[in-house]
Amino acid sequence: MRINKFLAACGVASRRACDKLIEDGKVEINGRRASLGEEINENKDKVTVEGVPVALRGGHEYFIMNKPKGYVCTVKDEKGRKTVMDLLPAHDGRLYPVGRLDYDTEGLLLITDDGDLAFRLTHPTNEITKTYLVKIEGGITERELNILRAGVELDGKRTNKCAVHTVETGKTFTRLHITVSEGRYHLVRRLFESVGKEVVFLKRIRIGELSLGSLERGKVRRLRADEVFYLKNL
Ligand code: URA
Repeated sequence: MRINKFLAACGVASRRACDKLIEDGKVEINGRRASLGEEINENKDKVTVEGVPVALRGGHEYFIMNKPKGYVCTVKDEKGRKTVMDLLPAHDGRLYPVGRLDYDTEGLLLITDDGDLAFRLTHPTNEITKTYLVKIEGGITERELNILRAGVELDGKRTNKCAVHTVETGKTFTRLHITVSEGRYHLVRRLFESVGKEVVFLKRIRIGELSLGSLERGKVRRLRADEVFYLKNL
């Protein structure tokens, strides 16, 4: 099958838009850059778009995990560290995490073999919201919160507006909820750093309205059909 037809059949985008992804070098076949019009064996070849595997197969699997600290969000780690895949029940090797949480970040992580959904949930133009519980040392002023809400400059580009509010103030720390709509590297930690605050604990608690609920740290469960439906329509 031609690569653009295959990608379109996987639900990545229209054939023409898939050609653009190929031209932009975002598509790989078995780890090397795909070229326009290339033929693939859809039963054998491994195709990725911006690093996310795509597949034709129906009957996808969807898991939600409460990722603990000390695990990397990759299928395999070159340094031999534990990966989130180690926490899953036996599986056929097609599953992978949707997006990334830092090694030291906990919380809601989706794991699936549905490349179409993974692609849409992580694509920057979709601005899917993610809510984090953050603990910082010391206090934070309303003026500093307003700076975060308005967006700050990181790597020469302004961050999107975000929602942030305090949920608990202790003698030596503050807990907050922050809802962001981007997936930039270390975004939450760097946002707080920009107003001089160090994040000492970070946990993702929601993607859109899908919440971690009472899922215990390190545990995984299958998503319910209504949850999958919700994510597909985000
Ligand atoms: N922001 C971060 O700084 N780290 C994460 O893991 C997620 C969002």
